[in-house]
Amino acid sequence: MADAISTPASSGSASPPATAAPAATASGALKLQVSDLHVTYRGRGGDDVEAVRGVSFDIPDKPGKGEIVVFLGPSGCGKSTILKTVAGLLPPTRGQVLIEGHPVTGPGADRGMVFQQYTSFGWLTVQENVEYGLRLRGVPKEERRAQAHKILERVGLLQFARSYPKELSGGMKQRVAIARTLINRPALLLMDEPFGALDPQTRWEMQGMLIDISHREDNTILFVTHDVSEAVYLADTVYVLSRRPARILHRMDIPGFEERSLSLKASPQFREAEERLLQLLYAPTVTPVKDQTPPAPTTSATGK
Ligand SMILES: Nc1ncnc2c1ncn2[C@@H]1O[C@H](COP(=O)(O)OP(=O)(O)OP(=O)(O)O)[C@@H](O)[C@H]1O
Ligand SMILES: [Mg+2]
Repeated sequence: MADAISTPASSGSASPPATAAPAATASGALKLQVSDLHVTYRGRGGDDVEAVRGVSFDIPDKPGKGEIVVFLGPSGCGKSTILKTVAGLLPPTRGQVLIEGHPVTGPGADRGMVFQQYTSFGWLTVQENVEYGLRLRGVPKEERRAQAHKILERVGLLQFARSYPKELSGGMKQRVAIARTLINRPALLLMDEPFGALDPQTRWEMQGMLIDISHREDNTILFVTHDVSEAVYLADTVYVLSRRPARILHRMDIPGFEERSLSLKASPQFREAEERLLQLLYAPTVTPVKDQTPPAPTTSATGK
């Protein structure tokens, strides 16, 4: 492990922003603005690892409408690093991260992160793990219990409420971590390959749950995956990243699908989006950011 090189190096916070004024566009405030983000890890023997180079993207705030933005890129390219800087866990070496116009200086209750590795407390039961955030906020026991039951039911773990994480499979542990984060209803949800350990059917159910949540809670979800099909299914927008150091190679807006059913994945529209993304992922050359949004679908697009 090494620390990220940061400015200031020892504060554990993001570099000071050029301006503290809230960012705004013609259409309104930006939910998230990442500008010229660079992250380099300092190696022990002086071997620096440049993980992220000049990544910039904006997510506008669309009131009343959830938004899922997917980062797709090869293993080791810097995806987790980008999420960690947005989470406030890692300071940028250069550049800045603004949430609703305010610079990120550390973790905050407005953000929830589901890590790539399972992150539950081993000494708490599944239910206690899920209730943890509510307990910190002083939510009364009965209310905590009721909310935890609801969310455990959604992730299919109600039967295991009294179990300890060590008694669960990898995919079940991951679902506990997801439930623990979702129960806090963060405005910005950061998910780092959260469904990697799940079988296709459970994965499908979890993807559906996430889309439901984004619609219902009007939050923004930053989602990292290697899986092209998952990207097309979930995303409003996909950013295709280069090999390390991560740079944004392409942006693709995914057409809204009217209804998400199992047959959707076999539809020509879905297949076409997958094919385009695959081509972008495996394109040998590194080119500047290009908008690869496909033409509008012929059917009406209201699903997202
Ligand atoms: N704490 C750290 N100290 C030093 N180098 C690190 C650290 N964390 C990540 N790296 C390096 O930064 C690069 C990007 O890592 P990162 O975890 O962001 O990749 P990733 O795209 O999430 O990969 P994967 O898809 O395999 O999870 C890698 O070369 C990795 O070795
Ligand atoms: Mg990762």
